[in-house]
Amino acid sequence: MPNVTPTFLDQHQYSYCELEKYEAIYGENFISPGGMDTALEFIGLLDPRSGERVLDIGCGFGGSALLMAREYGARVHGIDLSANMVATAVRRCYEAGAEGSVSLEQRDCLELTANAEFDAVYSRDVFLHIHDKPKLYNTIHRALIPNGRLLFTDYACSNRAKSAGFLEYVEQRGYHLLRIEQYVDGLTAAGFTDIIAEDRSAQLLRIHERELTTIETDPTVNSIAGDFAELWRTKIARIRSGEHRWPMIRAKIPA
Ligand SMILES: C[S@@+](CC[C@H](N)C(=O)[O-])C[C@H]1O[C@@H](n2cnc3c(N)ncnc32)[C@H](O)[C@@H]1O
Repeated sequence: MPNVTPTFLDQHQYSYCELEKYEAIYGENFISPGGMDTALEFIGLLDPRSGERVLDIGCGFGGSALLMAREYGARVHGIDLSANMVATAVRRCYEAGAEGSVSLEQRDCLELTANAEFDAVYSRDVFLHIHDKPKLYNTIHRALIPNGRLLFTDYACSNRAKSAGFLEYVEQRGYHLLRIEQYVDGLTAAGFTDIIAEDRSAQLLRIHERELTTIETDPTVNSIAGDFAELWRTKIARIRSGEHRWPMIRAKIPA
């Protein structure tokens, strides 16, 4: 199956109507589990230094890009395939006065032509949308300078056979999920080194449980995203059963 198109994203999973619900749950400027708290944790592990150039692949509303610029003094380039995401990110960066340190572009990361331009690549829960993983690894490898660093989280599957419900969910959204070991093998084959792959599924479970409580008990969140409660219950069940995993992977390219 080919990679998803901007239209597919903008009219389905990331329509403005759905994005309003995700943001109500994840928190302002974030469309990924744990919102700002997990972003701060993972950005801390990437540890961007002042003036470093960071590429945020699938930047969404720009929450992480803004944090890397504001808290670490990084110069961030955020790219995203979805027009809705980029339009919102541009507005949020303008409102935050971050245009000097964050640039944004609507672009498929597989079409990135950057060559040794970035000190670090950061990506949160994006690669699930990308089917051609070898091309993705090669594109990131080319974009990084020698000794450049990569950190990403993603949805992954396991050795277990996928349940019918999980298969349908993956199919409907056009996801392409790997097992954590497949990421390690693919990155190794593409020339990455120092690969650290952590299974953060237990953390994802705690995050989603907390978010479900918010959906159920916070009247504002419930009025916007109450119909996502069932989706969250299903996600929680799949993480508990072990079929849905959440790796956090770090790697480098050689000097
Ligand atoms: C779950 S959202 C995460 C957004 C953001 N990283 C965050 O943490 O808030 C996944 C993002 O990946 C983007 N995306 C999907 N396929 C992409 C591609 N081929 N190139 C760039 N971005 C892509 C989507 O448009 C969406 O914004």
